[in-house]
Amino acid sequence: MNKGAEVGRGKTKVLYQHPEQADSLVVVSQDSITAGDGAKRNVITGKGRLAALTTSRVYRLLNDAGLPTHYISGGEDEDSNEMLVRRCTMIPIEVVVRGVAAGSYLKRNPGVKSGTVFAPRLVEYFFKDDARHDPQYTAEQIVEEKIATSEEVVLMSDYARLIFDILAHAWRRQNVLLVDLKVEFGRANKEGGGTEILLADVIDNDSWRIWPAGDQALMLDKQIYRNIATPSTSDLDNVKAKYEEVAERVAAFAKRSGGFVGIIMGSRSDTPHVDRIEEELRSFAVPTRRHIASAHKTPVFALKKIQQLDNMLGRVVYITTAGRSNALSAFVDAATANPVIASPVLGSTWGGMEVVSSLALPGGVASMVVLEPENAALAAAKILAVDDSVVYGRVVMTQYRNRTNITEADKRLNAPPQGNGKAQ
Ligand code: C5P
Repeated sequence: MNKGAEVGRGKTKVLYQHPEQADSLVVVSQDSITAGDGAKRNVITGKGRLAALTTSRVYRLLNDAGLPTHYISGGEDEDSNEMLVRRCTMIPIEVVVRGVAAGSYLKRNPGVKSGTVFAPRLVEYFFKDDARHDPQYTAEQIVEEKIATSEEVVLMSDYARLIFDILAHAWRRQNVLLVDLKVEFGRANKEGGGTEILLADVIDNDSWRIWPAGDQALMLDKQIYRNIATPSTSDLDNVKAKYEEVAERVAAFAKRSGGFVGIIMGSRSDTPHVDRIEEELRSFAVPTRRHIASAHKTPVFALKKIQQLDNMLGRVVYITTAGRSNALSAFVDAATANPVIASPVLGSTWGGMEVVSSLALPGGVASMVVLEPENAALAAAKILAVDDSVVYGRVVMTQYRNRTNITEADKRLNAPPQGNGKAQ
């Protein structure tokens, strides 16, 4: 990548201005590894490339999930340790999320057993200051010292939890426990004015603790290096082998499972309902295939379509729209061992009753009965998310937005009156 002037330098990376784009930077990862606020330092040839590979693969998953990040491209090339990112003003706070008690938490809380599970996960803040050994800060201190606004602190904490949730899912698929994670944020200029909070800095094998099978003795992360007082060449080779393994493993993070939703509609007249289901599934990055088939009039054809979908490479979840009766859902459910979600069209009749609510529907005809198209799509996406971290990430982000829409509405409702002070 072409680079302009150097604009900054960390312990393991150098930042350059992008020669043409004023709001982009090039991050170049270095081969250094440090611990104890830089007190211990070694060079592992090739570590910079492994760090860039790991970071770019992690960021690709987070970008695909819809999280606001600074990552644009790069880091994947065999001979390159460079990434293109959006220029941000970094907020000098390390945000640590802990799923399980380990590391500095145990030192600060000697009564707590290693491996204690936190529910909810714990968020801690550390002010970046090597000379003072990165002191722990409260949210109030961050606001008081004008490091960030209270809204920014809430966003950083929310995003950090979401990031942890998505990365824990991606690691869980490989039977690896994400123990804790450090992230950092920056402010970037928004189109149309103002600033926005973006996940920035690197997320690599220095940023987390990861225990395969939940066993600390099998750890793959930088803690191995921290634990050795004076590492020998063979110790450093061992550390490098773990970093290589991690870079290789995270390549699977954003890989798609190939799962899809097979929509079996009883009638062409269900099209508007199915269009809404498909639109929602697109927002979860879930592909669909649709067929029209009738349990009464074309049972052989319906069975053939189900068998074709069942026999495809990707995992299938069915949604049946069952326009006029519940027969189609019961038929599909009996014909396949895969999950079936019945989403009857509102106002149709089912079992002689008009469909007005999913609660009124007789059960036992499908794995699930979900009336509203948006909720049927969400239910299908959740099933496919089991082995697809992009879909899981999008579900997590959608649920987060649904929650914040409610809390924002409540905030507006109870906001003090503006302007002349008269109630609106
Ligand atoms: O040392 P401590 O337990 O506070 O670390 C929590 C998490 O933050 C660990 O995953 C560690 O790798 C990470 N961390 C980091 N950079 C630091 C301090 C901690 O990436 N300066």
